[in-house]
Amino acid sequence: MIQMEHISKIYQVGDAPFYALRDVSLHIGAGEMVAVRGRSGAGKSTLLHIIGGLDTPDEGRYMLNGLNVGEATDAGLARIRNEQIGFVLQDFSLIDHRSTLYNVTVPMLFGKTPFSQMKTKALDALEAVGVSDQAHKAVSDMSGGQRQRVAIARALVNDPPVILADEPTGNLDSETTEEIMKLFVSLHERGKTVVIVTHDEHVASFCDRSITISDGKII
Ligand SMILES: Nc1ncnc2c1ncn2[C@@H]1O[C@H](COP(=O)(O)OP(=O)(O)OP(=O)(O)O)[C@@H](O)[C@H]1O
Ligand SMILES: [Mg+2]
Repeated sequence: MIQMEHISKIYQVGDAPFYALRDVSLHIGAGEMVAVRGRSGAGKSTLLHIIGGLDTPDEGRYMLNGLNVGEATDAGLARIRNEQIGFVLQDFSLIDHRSTLYNVTVPMLFGKTPFSQMKTKALDALEAVGVSDQAHKAVSDMSGGQRQRVAIARALVNDPPVILADEPTGNLDSETTEEIMKLFVSLHERGKTVVIVTHDEHVASFCDRSITISDGKII
């Protein structure tokens, strides 16, 4: 599903090049659940952003589900993000003053779903994560765990094969972390490819394998 060969991401810092990722080769099979670990500044988010087409590599070759992401145009990248990838972030990145139903509908506004089917699909996604009874509640009136469920529903609504999560439990207590990780495991069991960036060893233990990044390299 994810095939990276000799990927580098280089920022110019003053006069010198800075390698946020250096010569990273990584293969993740369809349906795998993988943790990405490493210290702050190691390059975890940079790697996840490249996997998800939010950013492009400066060197190397990256294929996602048979699509050449490194050579995609901006429009091609937008389409890859919309159809292939669901993102879940630490701070949820929801629109707080709108309903959960609205938040989950947003990714469909940029896809192919007919307007008449959007509400049903959004409710199905909320059902899948256990918050369909909160469909009309404003996000601002929900708990952290509920918000993360809504964010996961939003990531699922276009039925992408790949779910990417950057510290998805970073703002949650240990009990809620457990619930959210069980939800990711259930997505994995339904065949999704799941990649989770985490500092937390317990979170990583839910995954099939862990990769560790240090100074932009996989070790
Ligand atoms: N736009 C940028 N310009 C210059 N350097 C950058 C830029 N974005 C990231 N970096 C650098 O690249 C390195 C990797 O950053 P990244 O955000 O991937 O780290 P991370 O492993 O996700 O850290 P954290 O655990 O703190 O989220 C860091 O040293 C960071 O300072
Ligand atoms: Mg990060």
